[in-house]
Amino acid sequence: MKVLAGKTALITGGSDGIGLGIAEAFAQQGANLILVGRDAKKLTQREKELSRYGTDNLVVISQDMAARDAAREIAGKIAEKHIRIDILVNNAGIGRFIPFADSDASVLDFHLDLNVRAPYLLTRMFLNDLIASQGNVINISSYFARRMLTDRPSTAYSLTKAPWNPLPRHLPSSCPGGSRECGRTRHRFHAPGENQYRSAR
Ligand SMILES: NC(=O)c1ccc[n+]([C@@H]2O[C@H](COP(=O)([O-])OP(=O)(O)OC[C@H]3O[C@@H](n4cnc5c(N)ncnc54)[C@H](OP(=O)(O)O)[C@@H]3O)[C@@H](O)[C@H]2O)c1
Repeated sequence: MKVLAGKTALITGGSDGIGLGIAEAFAQQGANLILVGRDAKKLTQREKELSRYGTDNLVVISQDMAARDAAREIAGKIAEKHIRIDILVNNAGIGRFIPFADSDASVLDFHLDLNVRAPYLLTRMFLNDLIASQGNVINISSYFARRMLTDRPSTAYSLTKAPWNPLPRHLPSSCPGGSRECGRTRHRFHAPGENQYRSAR
């Protein structure tokens, strides 16, 4: 029995790296997938590759998540197809290692738009769906949300990954309907690289 059969997962940045790995793992477990990325050609290629897992329903959406209306655009395209989301994976993100003294507003905005604004608004957009489906939100954080290293100046990246650590604990009690109802929307927080760095020290 495939544990995600009948479930639909929306994965931002699902066409490469960690997001693609999650897409493959979910497809193997029978999930329907919606992958979001900017590069339409790459998405079409991934659609073909992932079809080997026998996924019946695979939708790709070409969208720059850093755009102001990204969450609304994606929700509109999904609503047109009458799809309900069970799992939201907020994975698309960027990190530039720039010394604080060399950074400016554009560096901060670049990180804020994709790492904070996009997942914040996408989660808000699908909140009612996720409550209805008793779904899950998976946020991809980072080792750098908790620590900064002198040889890897991650100031803007660290600041924009850090909000995803407390939010999962806070969100259930801040939703309409109170913590009991919203508490069923389980929020998971993942910080890739953390174990690797711990064992390397
Ligand atoms: N790699 C690591 O070592 C590491 C460690 C800790 C945390 N993380 C976090 O894990 C997440 C994924 O990282 P990764 O290294 O797997 O990334 P990656 O290999 O660079 O892949 C990024 C994915 O996101 C998409 N993407 C990038 N910018 C986008 C945008 N503006 N709008 C829509 N989609 C966009 C890319 O597709 P397009 O280019 O076609 O848009 C691609 O599918 C990030 O949140 C990152 O901060 C990564």
